[in-house]
Amino acid sequence: MKKIFSVLIFVFALFSVSAEDGHNLWLRNSNPKPVNVVCAKNSPTLTIARQELQQGWQGEAGASVSLRIKQDKAISGDGFKIGKNEIQANTELGILYGVYEILRRQQTGEVVKEEVVNSSYERRVLDHWDNPDGSIERGYAGLSIFWRKDNPFVVTENDKKLWLEYARANASIGINGAVLNNVNASPLMLSKEYLERVKAIAEVFRPYGIKTYLSVKFSSPSLIGGLKTSDPLSPEVIKWWKDKAQEIYSMIPDFGGFLVKASSEGQPGPQDYKRTHADGANVMADALKPFGGIVMWRAFVYSATDEDRAKQAYLEFMPLDGQFHDNVIIQVKNGPIDFQPREPFSPLFGALKKTSVMPEVQITQEYLGHSIHLVFLSTMWEEFLKSDTYQEGAGSTVARCTDGSLFAQKYTAIAGVANIGLDANWCGHHFAQSNWYAFGRLAWNNKLTSDQIADEWLKLTFYQVASSSGQAGFSGDWNDNFLKPVKKMMLESREAAVNYMMPLGFHHIFSANEHYGPGPWWAPKQMRKDWTPPYYHKADSIGVGFDRTQTGSKSVSQYHEPLSSQFNDVNTCPEIYLLWFHHLPWDYKMKSGKTLWNEICYHYDSGLQQVREFQKVWDKAQPYVDSERFGQVQSKLREQCSNAQVWKDACLLYFQRFSKKPIPFDIERPVNNLDELIKNDLKKH
Ligand code: GCU
Repeated sequence: MKKIFSVLIFVFALFSVSAEDGHNLWLRNSNPKPVNVVCAKNSPTLTIARQELQQGWQGEAGASVSLRIKQDKAISGDGFKIGKNEIQANTELGILYGVYEILRRQQTGEVVKEEVVNSSYERRVLDHWDNPDGSIERGYAGLSIFWRKDNPFVVTENDKKLWLEYARANASIGINGAVLNNVNASPLMLSKEYLERVKAIAEVFRPYGIKTYLSVKFSSPSLIGGLKTSDPLSPEVIKWWKDKAQEIYSMIPDFGGFLVKASSEGQPGPQDYKRTHADGANVMADALKPFGGIVMWRAFVYSATDEDRAKQAYLEFMPLDGQFHDNVIIQVKNGPIDFQPREPFSPLFGALKKTSVMPEVQITQEYLGHSIHLVFLSTMWEEFLKSDTYQEGAGSTVARCTDGSLFAQKYTAIAGVANIGLDANWCGHHFAQSNWYAFGRLAWNNKLTSDQIADEWLKLTFYQVASSSGQAGFSGDWNDNFLKPVKKMMLESREAAVNYMMPLGFHHIFSANEHYGPGPWWAPKQMRKDWTPPYYHKADSIGVGFDRTQTGSKSVSQYHEPLSSQFNDVNTCPEIYLLWFHHLPWDYKMKSGKTLWNEICYHYDSGLQQVREFQKVWDKAQPYVDSERFGQVQSKLREQCSNAQVWKDACLLYFQRFSKKPIPFDIERPVNNLDELIKNDLKKH
């Protein structure tokens, strides 16, 4: 009888896990308890704060919660002080962030104790690579939520609803800025029609504290302003930017500023006029300054020279340290090349000492399996933020070099390239939502662990209140059979991707421009060398890897000691970066005692095995997930697994042509044929 009863409960639980399309993200409604909100002031932001409390309160039923705006020196910017039934802040936004903090803690079962909470970075920005026609560069979740091809300037109720949902989701994790268009910017963005649409977006965003920013094309003065030049030192160009800034702020008084990709990958820039990046950035910064705007000037620069690409940004920017005006922030990608599955941090962090610097990470999975592979990027960003640059002695982490704790910066900021589109679940993959979430949480607090972030996100995104007591008292069953294994899978997922794509310091061995499948062989004749994988892996009959030591490209010398020597010496170089810094013989002895070749084989194989395990973990989680999301994730995992097999087979069979060594016999044999993989790949492009 007891058994039948338990089976019935299980079946009931199964059916009560109602279908979800993921659109509500981590903000799913959860049977709120009654609450009385006391607030002396009223405003659109405070109204939202009040509503959020009423819609999500999980504290004591009937409690009275007071929201107080009161200056307090311990609170900085939009930080706040929370207590069990109280939020205090210097600003209205601080109150709103405090509300989201309390609600999150209640919903995840974390204690709400008296505490002051301040953010690590002042500006926490999503960069959208969205084009005016609605397409998204490196977007894998549908078209743009901001722009479209047909009726581009009509603002519908649906648009506004979506922008509001987006703003709310961002505010709930502390994001306070959005660059609305692609860094490969269309000059049209600064035209009247587009600015009108930006104004409409900004109006929806405002009460949620999200500032709008635009990517601008450096040659806009000539392209849309009708000037003969865009030389940043020309008086008419200076005036053009001033007038444009004035026009923008007359429409959007809280406009955030410009993001600029200049003299990079074919984009126009100051170097076209024999001017420096500082000349280019300062002219825009001066125009924005009277209105409090900033320029985020990107350091993503390299040219088709013989110089190691990993060195070029440092070589261009270091001589300019101290020449940028104080409302310019140099936006530096986490690694020196380009958002690879694993890179050492860019040596510019901590090295630019008289210039504000902000990190740029990529949330959209351009190089990490698009929205098909389940890869939780938080662990990658944690590894990056915690990397010690040694620039001001031990403990000079990238986080501390950029959040104002080591260098006085007028503005501090961090940016993530968004993974958001019109797909019902916003991100294309349900688990890709966790990357949006993780970026926001780390931007707010750069000391958080990925374990905590994954824990919060899973509870908010998958816990079924209806099938439980209705409280955030996560049952042992849910904890043991869903939370623990699924969290473990998330925390291992990035390393798994590194293993099956590019272990041991391999990088940029993708085929073609999609940056999706393997293509270590890919090198079309007319292509720039630094856009082809052989430039990066340098495999030959002797060995493999990029020699960046003092006897190679010397890029190690851009790092501060003791890192420089550590990376330079093959015995002390961390194995995760081995082939990034060293070209080594195939039979080089690794720390494990295995040869390099064998170690490479085991890594590729273990990546594939890890994904097979993920499939099992997810299948076992079925009783705890609604069928819609369960099925979608399950089928993506299948595709990821078959892709991981292709990665393993392609890379091992290709490199084997150089190493001429057998694949260790305890590893499963490749199941794909290299010639076919190459043929199919070439057919595709
Ligand atoms: C990568 C990406 C491009 C992008 C560029 C950038 O190279 O593939 O699509 O434009 O980064 O960050 O500017």
